[in-house]
Amino acid sequence: MLKLENITFKYNEDSPLLINNFSFTAEKGDIIAVKGDSGTGKTTLLNIICSVIPKIFTGDLSGTVFHDDIDISKLSLPEIAPRISLLMQHPDNQLFFPTVEQELAFAPENLNIPAKNIIKRIDDILTKLNIENLRYQETNSLSFGQKKLVTFASIITLSPKVYLLDEPFAGLSKEYIKLTSDEIKIQAKNGKIIFLAGHTSDITQLANKTIEMGQFNEEN
Ligand SMILES: Nc1ncnc2c1ncn2[C@@H]1O[C@H](COP(=O)(O)OP(=O)(O)OP(=O)(O)O)[C@@H](O)[C@H]1O
Ligand SMILES: [Mg+2]
Repeated sequence: MLKLENITFKYNEDSPLLINNFSFTAEKGDIIAVKGDSGTGKTTLLNIICSVIPKIFTGDLSGTVFHDDIDISKLSLPEIAPRISLLMQHPDNQLFFPTVEQELAFAPENLNIPAKNIIKRIDDILTKLNIENLRYQETNSLSFGQKKLVTFASIITLSPKVYLLDEPFAGLSKEYIKLTSDEIKIQAKNGKIIFLAGHTSDITQLANKTIEMGQFNEEN
């Protein structure tokens, strides 16, 4: 279970209140659409859920995020990653290794998953997303859509309990939106909790719960 309790946030004194005393509970298998116009705080909310705010970016934050009854502010970012993991809106911020295969192997290697299992996870997701051809490519030579697919694949090889997917379909053709959506549904069926930030119908169609951002601005 992922529980947000009384979350209130603004970046600084001069900026608007983006989230006002917001509480929400997600159960295993939930797919939650985080909707709202540009600038309403979708990315901000995902950053709070995985503790990137306040651990990396600062702001005026109150409230608590619990994962399986643990207050995640008490955990370090490396401890949080196998529980709650973020697909960033901008994939360049998330690609660190020369090749796609190295990128996909990094997180499970860090968790001491046996090499054989890592290879299997990589084979599986490259096949499912129909991107086997990218396996030995240099990450910095990929197109935006390909980078989005590779960073999505790297979250799947890490296999956290909670997926925070920021605009997972950005830059993808219909065919790849379908393959990515199918994988998201499978992950939810397997008991993962999945947040999808975006404003397109591809996102809302998949979700069984919705968070509407941008309702708090006038109250500030
Ligand atoms: N580090 C920061 N410091 C100050 N303000 C910020 C910071 N990051 C984001 N903001 C502001 O907070 C607001 C919400 O930004 P956020 O990126 O969460 O929106 P979003 O809903 O994800 O938008 P988009 O649909 O364009 O991705 C915006 O007005 C943005 O300018
Ligand atoms: Mg955003």
